[in-house]
Amino acid sequence: METVVGIDCNQARLLLEKGEVVAIPTETVYGLAANGLNESAVQKIFQAKGRPLSNPLILHFSSKESTKPYVLEFPPILEKLADNFWPGPLTLLLKKTQLVPAIITSGLDRVGVRVPAQPLVQTLLQSVDFPLAAPSANLYGMISPTQASHVYKQLNGKIPYILDGGACENGIESTIVGLENDQVVVYRLGGVSMEQVASIIGYMPELKNHSENQPLTSGMVKHHYAPNTPFTYLEKTFVFQEDKNDGFILLKDNRPEIPAEQKYILSEKGDLKEAAQNLYAAMHFMDQKHFSKLYIERFEEIGLGTSMNDRLNRATKKFEG
Ligand code: TXA
Ligand code: MG
Repeated sequence: METVVGIDCNQARLLLEKGEVVAIPTETVYGLAANGLNESAVQKIFQAKGRPLSNPLILHFSSKESTKPYVLEFPPILEKLADNFWPGPLTLLLKKTQLVPAIITSGLDRVGVRVPAQPLVQTLLQSVDFPLAAPSANLYGMISPTQASHVYKQLNGKIPYILDGGACENGIESTIVGLENDQVVVYRLGGVSMEQVASIIGYMPELKNHSENQPLTSGMVKHHYAPNTPFTYLEKTFVFQEDKNDGFILLKDNRPEIPAEQKYILSEKGDLKEAAQNLYAAMHFMDQKHFSKLYIERFEEIGLGTSMNDRLNRATKKFEG
């Protein structure tokens, strides 16, 4: 199968209506989408990614209103979060209705719902009469794509179409939130920070990233978001040895001793939002440069820095021990 990259929403819609899988841009990362009400179409997502069926999918909608037939209830505190952060990088876990096929939730009773902001995918969502099931459009365990070219590299030949919306604005996956005993719980750190959630709900939510209970989120898989090149944190005390085989991903250019071709600067200004935008692109880019080792700076544990550190903890774990 030849994979076409284009900007034709209508083409994407026609393929989705036929039960095909299409890569879509969102403001977080690219998704691998199918008609969320068509089980055989959804199965193709798992096949293309090589993802186990035990890992549930998020349903994407054009608006909060359009989620309503698919959720049993919308608790007011979560509705408040939706009103503040939708369209945007927030996924809510809500009790599902019968309309949601079991394959979407891996049999769990809650479904992840999200209203993305990216303009092309909004147009697409408004043109179809079903929600789009979509995980990140990477092969299972690999770095999520934030550009159409990242998707193409991983999934060329496996899907018919990639809708190219340019580089993703947020660059890190959505924050996943739900309720337990009327308390807001964050299950995956992401594009909406813990502090932002707290500012709406009035308290710091509990983070259950590493919980051993269901639900199983990719946040729980130890080795995730990982490049192929051995990847480790850059310690502050690290002294550069003029080794051409080392690559560096830095928040800002605070290491003038490292040659330009060996480093990727995430944000000249040291801005965390800009760094998040560029983080996965930097990992994709540096991973293909054939360094024997990649070093990355740890971010300050605040706002998006916490979300980015979460991903780096997982990426570096792959190469520990
Ligand atoms: O930003 C995002 O959320 C992107 C874009 C494409 O929307 N999507 C994304 O999907 O990151 P994915 O599948 O790569 O990660 C979503 C995680 C999965 O690891 C899954 O385990 C968890 O969310 N999840 C989805 N539905 C769930 C459910 N019903 N209960 C518990 N966890 C769920
Ligand atoms: Mg993913």
